[in-house]
Amino acid sequence: MILVINFGGQYSHLIARRVRELGVKSEIAPYDISASQVKNMKPAGIILSGGPSSVYDEGAPIPDRKLLELGIPVLGICYGLQLIAKFSNGKVLAGKLKEFGKKTLKVKKTGKLLKGLSRKEQIWMSHGDLVEGMPKVFTVLASTDSCPVAAFEDNGKKLYGIQFHAEVVHTPKGMRIFRNFVFDICRAKKDWSIKDLQGKLISGLKKEIGNNSVIMGVSGGVDSTVAATLLHRAIGDRLYCVFIDHGLIRKGEKEEVTGFFESKLRFRHFYFIDASNKFLEKLKGVTDPEEKRKIIGHTFIEAFEEKVLELEKKHPGIKFLGQGTIYPDRIESAQPSKEASKIKSHHNLTLPERMKLKVVEPLREFYKDEVRKLGSGLKIPESILNRHPFPGPGLAIRILGEITPERLRILREADYIFIDTLRKFWQYDKVWQAFAALLPVKSVGVMGDARTYDYVISLRAVTSVDGMTADWARIPDVVLEIASNRIINEVRGVNRVLYDISQKPPSTIEYE
Ligand code: XMP
Repeated sequence: MILVINFGGQYSHLIARRVRELGVKSEIAPYDISASQVKNMKPAGIILSGGPSSVYDEGAPIPDRKLLELGIPVLGICYGLQLIAKFSNGKVLAGKLKEFGKKTLKVKKTGKLLKGLSRKEQIWMSHGDLVEGMPKVFTVLASTDSCPVAAFEDNGKKLYGIQFHAEVVHTPKGMRIFRNFVFDICRAKKDWSIKDLQGKLISGLKKEIGNNSVIMGVSGGVDSTVAATLLHRAIGDRLYCVFIDHGLIRKGEKEEVTGFFESKLRFRHFYFIDASNKFLEKLKGVTDPEEKRKIIGHTFIEAFEEKVLELEKKHPGIKFLGQGTIYPDRIESAQPSKEASKIKSHHNLTLPERMKLKVVEPLREFYKDEVRKLGSGLKIPESILNRHPFPGPGLAIRILGEITPERLRILREADYIFIDTLRKFWQYDKVWQAFAALLPVKSVGVMGDARTYDYVISLRAVTSVDGMTADWARIPDVVLEIASNRIINEVRGVNRVLYDISQKPPSTIEYE
């Protein structure tokens, strides 16, 4: 196992995923983990991630320096490299130079870490501080025009560092560097394979649940579907699945999800609950985004709890609550960053304490791409595995302002047409997420010689790695044109369509 120590960098998860892609297990630990805790975990190697701080900042996350003395190889990336430099009496210059984007790495010596790299390589930089010099025991391997120490190694102490981000795709030889570190330097074994895990997972679930039953909320999304399928394989009809329709789901969603669970997977206990009236009633007149999210979150838990109580009475064996939590969800909720300001209160199903059910999370160890691989091993159709993310509050956060039945109808139709067009022209799988949003303004148009005064629809399609940052997708003009024409012609109440070309940050993916 390779342990990634997280200093709050946006790429920490990506580092762990890269290591797993090499077939080696990787976990993330908080920056204040002690050296003795790490020793007990017996990792083959340690990676110190990047992070937004400067090693000189007051309150900067500083790890236990004994981590560097365990005899376990340590690779520092960006802030991680600066930490190693600081602990080893190197010269770290604060805030002298901000370097961001694609740069050329000049490799002087490949050493062990950069084995296989050419004299010049493209890399991705994103830093404010830099290391100017290292003590003699370190070999400086590479530099850039503005960064004298872009990579170093000390094979005696097994300390390695790179200033650039090897984990992102803009560093094409990044995987080679990870391979060098993980296999040649750490001598880790390749024993992490998702396909082989299926049987082990199912027998683990059987043991964990015993003769009891599990109740679970499903949304039709990838995570809950794969988790429910695994549970179903493990305990069969002792799984009770509940799908709550909050009235904010997309066109065709009910049929798709119900069809899959009932007809395809043949779940005996699948309950579709239409709670839309309750939700829409509570949302009447509400325009504030956070208010909307809160109402939906609370009402969701209420509706779910009501069904759980009813089922518990009939089936006393229900002792577990199944959840589709995946690895990043768990890590993020375990480490609320002090600095991270609350941008949106993401709503996902949280267990009300009084339910007194034990939680079972079949996917707690996995990343999204691994969940998809597991799902394909379970023969879940690609159409479900490759679905774009859909937020818990559903269409509510894509209708700016008040949610009314008319606005819901318009948005549902427009969204359906946009997605259908993307699929027809092979664009759907190329983007991370795509959808339509309804702007609560009307504009003037002309249709068949008559003036119209109708709503504006904004189309959004983004590319992203993890939803934390995103770029607008360069969808071919012709595809946008077809979607726009269809929406204006087929959806009553719309006379204008926009394409959203904002990036995250500073925008967000969703509108509220
Ligand atoms: P934002 O809008 O924050 O979205 O850029 C990032 C990603 O998160 C999804 N999202 C949510 N997912 N519950 C969820 O399960 C939520 O409340 C929620 N809000 C946003 C969003 O669709 C995008 O993929």
